[in-house]
Amino acid sequence: MSIKPLVIVTRKLPELIEARMMELFNTKLSNSDESLNKNELKDALRKADILVPTVTDKIDKEILDFASDKLKLIANFGNGMDHIDTDYALKKNIIITNTPGVLTEDTADMVMSLLLAVPRKIIEGEKLIRADKWQGWSPTHMMGRRIWGKRLGIIGMGSIGQAVARRARGFGLHIHYHNRNRLPDVIEEAHVATYWENLDQMLPKMDIISVNCPSTTETFHLLSRERLKTLQSHSYIINTSRGKVIDEEALAELLSGGKIAGAGLDVFEREPSVNKELLRAPNTVLLPHMGSATVEARIEMGEKVIINIQTYLNGHKPPDRIT
Ligand code: 8YV
Repeated sequence: MSIKPLVIVTRKLPELIEARMMELFNTKLSNSDESLNKNELKDALRKADILVPTVTDKIDKEILDFASDKLKLIANFGNGMDHIDTDYALKKNIIITNTPGVLTEDTADMVMSLLLAVPRKIIEGEKLIRADKWQGWSPTHMMGRRIWGKRLGIIGMGSIGQAVARRARGFGLHIHYHNRNRLPDVIEEAHVATYWENLDQMLPKMDIISVNCPSTTETFHLLSRERLKTLQSHSYIINTSRGKVIDEEALAELLSGGKIAGAGLDVFEREPSVNKELLRAPNTVLLPHMGSATVEARIEMGEKVIINIQTYLNGHKPPDRIT
């Protein structure tokens, strides 16, 4: 009887997914929901035939060097791959998969939630009520800024960026975008979107910026201090992608100084730590990386992980393989 390959899962996944993985594979689940420390991660890589990590597992060269020859597949639970040195893993003949598609709509909903919450001061108003400090209606109280008719600049017009554009059009926003490649005419026309090849030209013209590009070496601090300074003082920034795309320190300073009107952030440069100045900055809504945190998305992400593993074990190319 052949021994089933060992699948190690680093974090707690939805029960349904864990149960199915236990049925299908020789699965070692995470007992606690703590993220693994470096030594535990090294140990997991040493023992696993297949590893199922998440964004909280930093799998760099040093960690990958602890992988034994039997580690053949890293089936990531999540879309973004910036926590894994994919080039190095591929050099070591480790197949890597992710879970694209299934978190697109939920993440776009989170963009819209932040995009409405910040200019319309939704959290501020809610806090006031709960603090029992509301003195009653007044014509000049809690005045935010109108969404309708403003210019939204989407950085990264992949599937999430486009899902944001679809929603934003319904709110009367004018869609502008910057992307490595210009979209085909038919997609641009569907979103009534204006393409800006040059990000530096787009930024000062926008009222709201939404970051929807992946975090790569090319996009590290894409919104650098210099670029952030070119934004208009009434503009807002929404980031549901990765913290590293924005220079967080510079953003915090500009928000504190009133050089940018507000920010809605679901991701941070050094998660779970958040820049202290950002915590104090006005007009910011800060969320704990929950863009894809719906029951539906998490189950579908888990199903993708299972399909990728099973397809690999059946001797085929997993559908969500990173090349
Ligand atoms: C996930 C995400 O929650 O998939 C991604 O890239 O950012 C998140 O929405 C996380 O990656 C899970 O590992």
